[in-house]
Amino acid sequence: MIEIVPAGAPFATGADLLVVPVFAGRTWGPGADVAAERLGPGLEAYLDVREFDGKPGQLVSVPGGATPYGEIAFIGLGDEVDAETLRKGSGAIGRFASPFARVATTMHLVDVDGAVDAVVLGYLLGAYRYDAYRSEPKGRVNARLELLDGGTDAGDAVRRATAVARGVMLARDLVNQPAVDQPPAVLAARAGELSASISVEVVDEQEAAERGYGGLLAVGAGSTNPPRMVILRYAPEGARASLALVGKGIIFDSGGLSIKPAAMMEQMKTDMAGAAAVYGAMQAIAELGLPVNVLGVTPLSENMTGGAAQRPGDVFTAYNGKTVEVLNTDAEGRLVLADGLGVAAETDPDLIVDLATLTGAAKVALGPKIGAIFGNDDAAIASVDAAAKFAGESMWVMPLEKAYRSKLDSEIADIKNIGDRFGGAITAALFLSEFAGEGPWIHLDIAGPARADATEDYVSAGGTGFGVRTLVALAEEMAKKA
Ligand code: BES
Ligand code: MN
Ligand code: ZN
Repeated sequence: MIEIVPAGAPFATGADLLVVPVFAGRTWGPGADVAAERLGPGLEAYLDVREFDGKPGQLVSVPGGATPYGEIAFIGLGDEVDAETLRKGSGAIGRFASPFARVATTMHLVDVDGAVDAVVLGYLLGAYRYDAYRSEPKGRVNARLELLDGGTDAGDAVRRATAVARGVMLARDLVNQPAVDQPPAVLAARAGELSASISVEVVDEQEAAERGYGGLLAVGAGSTNPPRMVILRYAPEGARASLALVGKGIIFDSGGLSIKPAAMMEQMKTDMAGAAAVYGAMQAIAELGLPVNVLGVTPLSENMTGGAAQRPGDVFTAYNGKTVEVLNTDAEGRLVLADGLGVAAETDPDLIVDLATLTGAAKVALGPKIGAIFGNDDAAIASVDAAAKFAGESMWVMPLEKAYRSKLDSEIADIKNIGDRFGGAITAALFLSEFAGEGPWIHLDIAGPARADATEDYVSAGGTGFGVRTLVALAEEMAKKA
């Protein structure tokens, strides 16, 4: 992990790389004026050649010459700088800086609320790489970021950003891990190692049958790797609120007997991103010691086509006693979540939030970068929406339209698991609502943003860890309650 440390004034001591911010129209930000002066008149001419005028994301680096820095990088931030601009700029720097052992910056001195948090978080997430399966790591990872001049009173913000970044990176690692090496029992064991202050209960398939986790068992039946229900508890002294997090943990989604076409299946190792986000968030919440009780419920299962696989037309009984007719085995996330939500609802928390890569329809509706928010309670919707905005994760509130409930009417059971072609994200949310109990409940469909095709700003290709930052921000808000 990259070390983040406070340091003195720019140019007082050296480093391998100095990074200074520049606003639109090449207006020097903190430290950039001094850097420009030290580098002399040749700099402006060079920046002209490179057409560097401070647009967001522009990055030009020059040799440090007679200065105490090996190289000096100018990062453009544009003219309407907010925390997200800083996170993005810093993310680009985190990636660019990988060859340099010691990096120093003044980016956190930009006059924006939460600047230190944004710079540290963006930098750490931008520097993230998943190298576990390469025989040689791809390039180096820089070791140390110095926050110059005024970084000394930034301790709390650095601690927060570091904890959140660790949570996001944990989620990314878990999502990026190939399914062959991460069957339910293995992922469950990893969940058991999050933090000493989080207790873990791993329910195996026999115990699941005794408890009546019918959805988990129905989906898991087609795999030789048996399912697990993982229940995590973080119960700090003086907790002011209780939050239950439920995450879809489909290790691999082949579709089951309603099998997916090859192109749709390629990325389905990422179908446990909801569970991964729950683990990442709980680890960060525990590391920050937030005074909120958090229950984490993650049903883990593979959706495969083995001889014992569930068939279209089969009926199972979910944990809350409702019977479900399974007409399409590829609508499996809602089946395991039915049990997960049932377990969460039983504890009567102040709020339940589930996260799931649930529907292609949510991705079609909002595109690959925006998560869908559904819920049964306006105040809860507003608080999750606000937490997402604060955290810098794009989400959009969608309707839990009761008029569509009849699409889920079954000929023989209480409910069936698919609607028709239209409004697929909504019917999926309506299905979940029947298992979430009576209290406030939020469903986040993260099918789009849980995974990125390409690396961009502080988002890395593959698992993104989407949701972790919103959940931590939500827990922070709930911790403020009297
Ligand atoms: N895991 C998929 C949803 C998904 C699709 C996530 C694309 C990420 C990217 C989910 O289990 C699924 O297969 N949903 C079906 C539901 C349908 C059968 C009602 C879908 O969206 O096609
Ligand atoms: Mn599916
Ligand atoms: Zn799925």
